[in-house]
Amino acid sequence: MTATAHPFGTHADGLERCPFIPTYAPPAVMFERGLGTEVWDVDGKRYLDFLGGIAVLSLGHSHPDVAAAVATQAHTLQQVSNYFTNPITPQVAITLDRLLGGGGQVFFTNSGAEANECAIKLARRWGGGAHGRWQVVSAYGSFHGRTLATLHATGQPSKHEPFQPLPPGFRHVAWADIDALAAAVDDTVAAVLLETVQGEGGVNPMPPGYLAAVRALCDERGCLLIVDEVQTGLARTGAWFGFQHDLDDGVQPDIVTLAKALGNGAPVGACWAKAGVAAAFEAGDHGTTQGGNPLSAAAALATLRTMEAIDAPALARLAGATLRASLEALPQVVSVRGRGLLLAAELTDGIDAKAVYAECLAAGLIVNPITPTAIRLTPPLNVSEEHIDEAVAVLSGVLERFGSGVPAR
Ligand SMILES: Cc1ncc(COP(=O)(O)O)c(C=O)c1O
Repeated sequence: MTATAHPFGTHADGLERCPFIPTYAPPAVMFERGLGTEVWDVDGKRYLDFLGGIAVLSLGHSHPDVAAAVATQAHTLQQVSNYFTNPITPQVAITLDRLLGGGGQVFFTNSGAEANECAIKLARRWGGGAHGRWQVVSAYGSFHGRTLATLHATGQPSKHEPFQPLPPGFRHVAWADIDALAAAVDDTVAAVLLETVQGEGGVNPMPPGYLAAVRALCDERGCLLIVDEVQTGLARTGAWFGFQHDLDDGVQPDIVTLAKALGNGAPVGACWAKAGVAAAFEAGDHGTTQGGNPLSAAAALATLRTMEAIDAPALARLAGATLRASLEALPQVVSVRGRGLLLAAELTDGIDAKAVYAECLAAGLIVNPITPTAIRLTPPLNVSEEHIDEAVAVLSGVLERFGSGVPAR
């Protein structure tokens, strides 16, 4: 199968034979197996995966330690409900709490949107609800999920329109503008919700010092700071968490949300909160049947242990510097932004990122057109130098054919 062939073929009447509800564009390729940074389609064609399931596969495809942990757990105990616990899940919570600075508690979810949903509910409960603090302020250009509440928190009005009316209680302010934020935070606001690098919004890092200013504002106005680390968390940016780049300023959020890399492909998310904030929830206030089940917890524990053993933040910094330098050397790349291995390459005028994505895919490289003019790269954190060189060579070959904005053949 080529990158452009539709995996499901075509009906005689011309309709695509796709069994999925059309929330996504029809899938471009049917993949069969992966190992590390490589993945193969059903026809045996090899690709380098520099998207990694959208910043999920931080240890690469089919990591042996994670695969072994999941297989063993599948044969041991898969689900007990949250009436009970098991030997694995508390260890994941304790490890996350240690990495996040300590003094907190964890609620496990199955996705990033659910982790943010939990954070929003917790902030409202903490703030006293409708007669107290209940609003959440987030940034334009942000992405926080697709449930109705997290969609409203997502600062992209075009995504709101088809689903109005959305739940009330959300305000949006200009990204990285402390005055705009200060103007929006009054005594009805329970929390400010921010990413440290806007991932889906185009890979836009916070300017240095901004998070410390937000922390100070939240303290002054008496509201919580929620940091959405669903995409940036767990070493992706070269620190365990994006907010820790500002450690010199001693920034500590009240709530942190995680998902994506936590299970290295197994669906698991988490909402961490300082114990004093977490105490606002009472038994029965929130829940999800499969959150923190032993199977996804085994994937998470193996992922966290492996990441610690290989010093994943250091790998992300090193490989990120190599990839960034190689991208910056390409004549068709105007600039590279991002942190660690969450990078976007801005292309020269006239080059369409979607067309570059399609040409790269045909040439065996998976990247992501994150804006009309930029491609996002989020390879595994343990990506080899050889694979970085190979990927940049493929990209360079593709970009060379885009001199006039259209690929020459
Ligand atoms: C910063 C951020 N928050 C939340 C989400 C939603 O996570 P999920 O797709 O697992 O629901 C995403 C997904 O891309 C994200 O990047």
